Amino acid sequence: MALGERVMTVEDEIIERYRGRTPGSRARHDVAQQYLPAGDTRSATWFAPYPTYMVAGEGAWLQDCDGNRYLDLLNNFTSLVHGHAQPDIVEYAADQLTRGTVFGTAAEPQVGLAKLLIERIPSFEKVRFTNSGTEATMMMMRAARAFSGRDIIVKMDGGYHGSHDFVEVSISAALDSAQAPAARVEGRGVPDTVLNAVMVAPFNDLKAMEALLHQHHERIAGIIVEPMPNAGGMVPPAPGYLSGLRALADEYGVLLLFDEIVTLRLGSGGFQAIADAIPDLTAVAKIIGGGFPVGAFGGRKDIMELFNPAASADFVFHSGTFNGNNMTMTAGLEAMQRLDQAAIERINRLGEDLGGGVNRIFRSLGIGAQCLGYGSLQQIHWTDEPVISLADARRAGEDIGQLRQLLQLELLNRGVYTSNRGMFSITTAMSEGDIALALTAVEGALGCLRPYMRATAPRLLCD
Ligand SMILES: Cc1ncc(COP(=O)(O)O)c(C=O)c1O
Repeated sequence: MALGERVMTVEDEIIERYRGRTPGSRARHDVAQQYLPAGDTRSATWFAPYPTYMVAGEGAWLQDCDGNRYLDLLNNFTSLVHGHAQPDIVEYAADQLTRGTVFGTAAEPQVGLAKLLIERIPSFEKVRFTNSGTEATMMMMRAARAFSGRDIIVKMDGGYHGSHDFVEVSISAALDSAQAPAARVEGRGVPDTVLNAVMVAPFNDLKAMEALLHQHHERIAGIIVEPMPNAGGMVPPAPGYLSGLRALADEYGVLLLFDEIVTLRLGSGGFQAIADAIPDLTAVAKIIGGGFPVGAFGGRKDIMELFNPAASADFVFHSGTFNGNNMTMTAGLEAMQRLDQAAIERINRLGEDLGGGVNRIFRSLGIGAQCLGYGSLQQIHWTDEPVISLADARRAGEDIGQLRQLLQLELLNRGVYTSNRGMFSITTAMSEGDIALALTAVEGALGCLRPYMRATAPRLLCD
């Protein structure tokens, strides 16, 4: 090596290879930044040094503007459960497109999707559509407040339910989580006054929930929980936790609200059917739109009738220019019909194969980490200690430097697309061969990152 020549670190080398493969993405990002903050419209899709510009998707694969192909393990954050451009969904949507996207009055396509969801999701007796999961949890929480006449919703410390003000609270679990973590506003621009209407409790801890309800139940409208918190790290509920929450909600006279925006795909009736814990209200989104923007909330008829202007002049107002639009409803109905029990079981099996394979790789490379999740949803945690609370999940990612970002980039370099959370979602477009390919990429990327772990997070290496 010549004097003065800089030694390339593993991280430099990974980023350099990424840049070398993606000059078109970089050029597009430079232009986009002139018009959009960070060149994009979603905080979650930005990553350094610049995001990959995808130009086409087909089945399990994406293609970027430089001609690179990627196995897509992100699938628009779990929402594309059939992968990209599924031919039947495309055909139904294209046919609907020629007949009008939205009419500004009631239209039939929404009735078909509503019926399917009510037939499948145990807690759904009536349903309303929105354009996003954010709106769905917002309206579900509003329904709970209107029904109970109380203001407070209890959410999990570290739980994510979209980006409206009342859930921009304690999105990352408190690291020093005591029995009763204090609610914290996390989004800048969100007024502290939301804390008058939100409390937090640790996930997977019935004792802490009971203590909170015991003290405050007379002011509490409901509890909102994701059966398996997604952004919290795909941390499965402890056996009996969800049915325990149901029992506590009944005992203290508060409503139970499930956010199944991500977990609906895990069973034909969502996670509530798997866990046999039926909430009063449920929010869903993502997969039910067939690739189009969507959300929905539904539940007990007596609560949902609050939205019926024919039943009472004092109804709860709920509108939205594109709610229940024909495109989303038509594509969504076809997508949900295709996601039958056999399809769900198949992708859950593929997901378990992927998670199990990643765990074998961790062991064989002597890396103290693990893949956690359920069925078609899996996520890497950088610890081999049990991950039970969302604070455990957060703690595992605190002292690992840029490891998550570097794994994301190195997987991209090896033709696999996912987010920097190390989250994997499986689609019906994937095969056993795709899982094998993903595992080869993960093994190669982790091998390549070992020197980085040695330098930055030596606790991860068992040798
Ligand atoms: C559990 C959960 N709830 C709510 C949302 C918000 O949904 P949307 O992004 O459609 O507003 C998300 C989005 O990722 C989510 O994962």
